[in-house]
Amino acid sequence: MTRLALASVDYFADVYPEAVIDRDVVICGGLCHDVGKAWECDPENQKRWKADASLVGRPSLRHPVYGAYICLTVGLPESVAHIAACHSPEGDNVKRSLECIIVHEADVAWWKISAASGLTRDGTIPDHFAKMFEPRKPREMPRAAE
Ligand SMILES: [Fe+2]
Repeated sequence: MTRLALASVDYFADVYPEAVIDRDVVICGGLCHDVGKAWECDPENQKRWKADASLVGRPSLRHPVYGAYICLTVGLPESVAHIAACHSPEGDNVKRSLECIIVHEADVAWWKISAASGLTRDGTIPDHFAKMFEPRKPREMPRAAE
């Protein structure tokens, strides 16, 4: 996904060099945007939330919120924490930075293209994505030696 975001940065640097885009923030934000998934996808957390969502919600914090917490805790710039917090629908409630828009759009594009290419597993994409297309069957690939 970061490479997809950087393709946009490179395109604009080439075709519209007057656009001021912070490539380093896109790289760091792209690599860190889902850092909060360690919390949201933790099996123990999921077990607790499933047992009684009335206590702290389900999940208590989605990965963008926890990701922003991690970014700020480890001293990453606010611009990167903003990308972690707002790359997802949570960002619809704020004005995203330019670099966050680039990561957000690359993330959405990555999921749509991957899903339409038949590269995602059932149940891993939201219903509103799944109804947009009929996934194409991917080509058979040789398996790596085990
Ligand atoms: Fe995400």
